[in-house]
Amino acid sequence: MTENFFLHKKQLFDCWASTYDWLFPSVFYQAIHKRLLEYVDLPPRANVLDLGCGTGRLLNRLAKTFPDLHGMGVDLSSQMLQVARRNNCYHPRLIFVEGKAESLFFAQEQFDAVFSTISFLHYPEPKQVFAEVTRVLKVGGKFYLVDFSVPHQEELQIKHIVGGIRLYSPNQRQFLGSCCGLKCVAHHNLLGPVLLTIFTKPLTIHLLHKHHRNNM
Ligand SMILES: C[S@@+](CC[C@H](N)C(=O)[O-])C[C@H]1O[C@@H](n2cnc3c(N)ncnc32)[C@H](O)[C@@H]1O
Repeated sequence: MTENFFLHKKQLFDCWASTYDWLFPSVFYQAIHKRLLEYVDLPPRANVLDLGCGTGRLLNRLAKTFPDLHGMGVDLSSQMLQVARRNNCYHPRLIFVEGKAESLFFAQEQFDAVFSTISFLHYPEPKQVFAEVTRVLKVGGKFYLVDFSVPHQEELQIKHIVGGIRLYSPNQRQFLGSCCGLKCVAHHNLLGPVLLTIFTKPLTIHLLHKHHRNNM
């Protein structure tokens, strides 16, 4: 069932790729990227990951704002990535690779920040994605989750709407983060129903994993 789900999503975004940057949603998404940047705080020479990077607009904007930043974009759709590579103004600082947010092929603790803008709502296994984000983040690193949100809901009652899309309330985001040890730092309204939630990976989680590894 899951493989079919991913295939369907991939086909959907492959079809959308050639017009993605021209249609209204993209104008809206770019306004969101601009708002997001008001809250982004990165160390010098930051190494960042964009999950569901689409045509790579956010990473290009980040690379322009932070001239020593290196970024990796991951997306399910090969067609979206083709557009991202064609429009990459910062190669080799920015690299775009095909993959799933649910199973990242990066070593642990590689990134200073992970971004996900209007993509998380498509993920069928949100807990798995949170676990992967936690794994690849450095201690003190941040996860910037930007997506449409809904008002307060019970932590485990995820609201589904059409096409396998899931929307999360602020407390559900916090719950998902806490399940893998991420600490929620803040929520910010970006535009209309689009909410930014910022998580950080605390030192305690690192010590816990180290302890676990030493006892294996
Ligand atoms: C609406 S677009 C957003 C693109 C970009 N983040 C932006 O802000 O413009 C959603 C993207 O998420 C990607 N996507 C959906 N499910 C995914 C998954 N499980 N893993 C990786 N990428 C995924 C899609 O292929 C698509 O490019």
